[in-house]
Amino acid sequence: MLTVEELRAALGRLPRVDLAVLPTPVHECPNLGRRLGIRLAIKRDDLTGLAFGGNKTRKFEFVFGDALAQGADAIVAGFGSQSNFARQAAAACAKLGLKCYLVNRYDDRARRVGIQGNYLLDFILGAEVWLVSPERLAEARQKLAEELRALGHRPYVLNDTEAVLGAVAYAGCVAELAEQLSEPPEFLVLASGGGTQAGVLLGVKALGLPTRVIGFRPSRVPEAAVKGQVAAIANEAARLMGLGVGVEPEEVENSEEYVGEAYGVVTPACLDAVELLARTEGILLDPVYSGKAFSGLIDYVRRGIIPAGSRVVFLHTGGQPAIFAYAQEFIEHGGYRMRAVEDVGRGILSAAPAAGG
Ligand SMILES: Cc1ncc(COP(=O)(O)O)c(C=O)c1O
Repeated sequence: MLTVEELRAALGRLPRVDLAVLPTPVHECPNLGRRLGIRLAIKRDDLTGLAFGGNKTRKFEFVFGDALAQGADAIVAGFGSQSNFARQAAAACAKLGLKCYLVNRYDDRARRVGIQGNYLLDFILGAEVWLVSPERLAEARQKLAEELRALGHRPYVLNDTEAVLGAVAYAGCVAELAEQLSEPPEFLVLASGGGTQAGVLLGVKALGLPTRVIGFRPSRVPEAAVKGQVAAIANEAARLMGLGVGVEPEEVENSEEYVGEAYGVVTPACLDAVELLARTEGILLDPVYSGKAFSGLIDYVRRGIIPAGSRVVFLHTGGQPAIFAYAQEFIEHGGYRMRAVEDVGRGILSAAPAAGG
């Protein structure tokens, strides 16, 4: 078992750049906590500070530290059209003076809403962005990197290898949280498909915290594959940091119960969860990751999997720019209507929704 200082020292041995505003705050949520019958707080990693923040900014301190140590002058990445990863990579590049090349998926969301949300921000942040068909994404990343090399650039290709350095960063997040709380939470809940949870689990184990980590993944992936992947990432991160701690696949708790139809397709429970937290605590979740995970948290409390009275910390991983790319779903689900007041003299509270609005 390590102390917080020892865990910090292990992180300190790896190359790192300064990108995030740390520590991120922990906000108590008494209104919603009372409603749910738990003691709820939110660790605000949506407030990491770089172009709307999110979990990637904390990870990129190590990922870009590695890129700069390798002499990179450009970054190549490619994920979904509404990728939070891509947007934070574009912002990190802007801050560090690197060129950012994105080959993102030409997915359903891009077809439906065009340049909006994260995709809009990629442009504002100065990234070069292309969309490619989903099945050719990996090939496009490689091709782009080759073209850049042929022009004399030194591109650093961001892909799944960043997960390990990201896990290092999230072990650090647990050290930060341990210092912020007077006692460790009984439950730490987050949206994660892999890297973030790997780091959180590693941090919890390294510090010997009595905390149950519950991840909710955003897409349908077989249980055994997720558990194996999270454990493998955690163990590789532990090796990099020189920690004598390991994570076994059986220790990984990660559910796909709240994904709904598919990745990126909202569920009514997710939209309800986003509205509920917004209307009780003034905190926004996103419709793809944190909103679905929060709907899982609410349901776990309802089902008694998280018992009444428990101390629960939700790790908010960000993603809110996607809200704007899902405006139509929010409007339809919430019945939001424009209300134009034509005659103030006749009163405002009684104004009817505008026709067609
Ligand atoms: C808002 C948000 N939450 C959670 C995640 C999941 O992170 P990880 O892949 O590290 O589990 C992502 C990743 O894209 C994200 O953008």
